[in-house]
Amino acid sequence: RKVAVLSQLENNGIVAVLRAESTDKALKIADALISGDVKSIELTFTVPDADTVIKKLVTDYADNSEVVIGAGTVLDAHSAHDAIAAGAKFVVSPTFDSATAALCNLYQVPYIPGCMSVNEMKSAMQAGSDIVKLFPSNVVGPAFVKDVIAPLPQLEIMPSGGISLDNLGDWYKAGCRVIGVGGSLLKPAATNDFAKITEVARAFINKYHQLRE
Ligand code: 3PG
Repeated sequence: RKVAVLSQLENNGIVAVLRAESTDKALKIADALISGDVKSIELTFTVPDADTVIKKLVTDYADNSEVVIGAGTVLDAHSAHDAIAAGAKFVVSPTFDSATAALCNLYQVPYIPGCMSVNEMKSAMQAGSDIVKLFPSNVVGPAFVKDVIAPLPQLEIMPSGGISLDNLGDWYKAGCRVIGVGGSLLKPAATNDFAKITEVARAFINKYHQLRE
């Protein structure tokens, strides 16, 4: 089960970090992203009633095997439990939390913790993580990933924070295959322009596919 989710995340490439001020808006944004073929959604716990939104999305897209709904900004094991009970297929944190890692392992749900150092990455791997989130990635840059995956080739590093269409290629070339994108995808949400979100999502996916070729 865990392996299947990890390979879906790798196939999809882009993970949309979804923040919104209401549950209704979060659902509209998720639909717009998925219409644009961004099919991995990290629904953050900063969204009101995040677990309800996760549950609705998991139900709505149950027939689409490429859509992967996970939870983001999960700060503690209690929230991770809520997320998993709602059907989240992966759990992301801005930091590494060992109790959350243990809970996720118990349910065989991939835990993607935020790490900023090689030491934190090693602790996360020892606690069962196959992917870590380099956060905030814009502070360190793609060169960091290139250097770290030389000694840790078994680790998938998902950068998140400041990723745009312009710098996506730099992260891909550094070795990242799962890439988190928030603000650059969600900008049109400020004016409720959901069609534009679909357009931007498609631009990210097209760019990612070009890089993969
Ligand atoms: C986050 O946790 O908000 C993500 O890292 C996304 O960052 P971004 O909005 O800068 O892409």
